[in-house]
Amino acid sequence: MASDTSTNVTTPTADAPNLLDAFPDKRQALEEYLDSLPLARAAGRKKGFLIQSLHRAQAIFGYLPEEVQVLVAKKLELHLSEVYGVISFYSFFTDKPVGKHKINVCTGTACFVRGADIILQEFARQLKISEGETSEDGMFSLGGLRCVGACSLAPVVMVNEDVEGNVEPPMVKKIIRRCMQEGE
Ligand code: FES
Repeated sequence: MASDTSTNVTTPTADAPNLLDAFPDKRQALEEYLDSLPLARAAGRKKGFLIQSLHRAQAIFGYLPEEVQVLVAKKLELHLSEVYGVISFYSFFTDKPVGKHKINVCTGTACFVRGADIILQEFARQLKISEGETSEDGMFSLGGLRCVGACSLAPVVMVNEDVEGNVEPPMVKKIIRRCMQEGE
């Protein structure tokens, strides 16, 4: 029997547009993908499709707001809490909008002892956002992450997919400016 997905569901607030309504073409793309899954043959094992479905949903919408989680839960006949549990467990899933440029300061031990916290504070100050937030114009997301395996370059900042090493506070402005120029 299908799980009840109607509990724990809150209606998106007026200032948070419902992505499914705002982007019907994307909604259709996700529904077509979910409908293409061989769910009928996976009776009782539909959770096995959850991670790949969330990857697809995030690729389509950029992130996984509640209305998208509800849609995935309904199609896979899972409880919303199961969907949310997976999203919150894996760091590559996010339920918040992500900026065009992702700035992630490594706060692993080697980077921390070489001033990563100061670098993070400087990004926060200049971008006027806190760790875990996205700027209002959607240009930047700021986050922290654990060792990226480049400790000899500490402190390290991931700027989108690129590793920026030996970062000092005066470099923060240059990194932001470079991102903005790339975004023009
Ligand atoms: S601790 Fe930052 S790269 Fe290893």
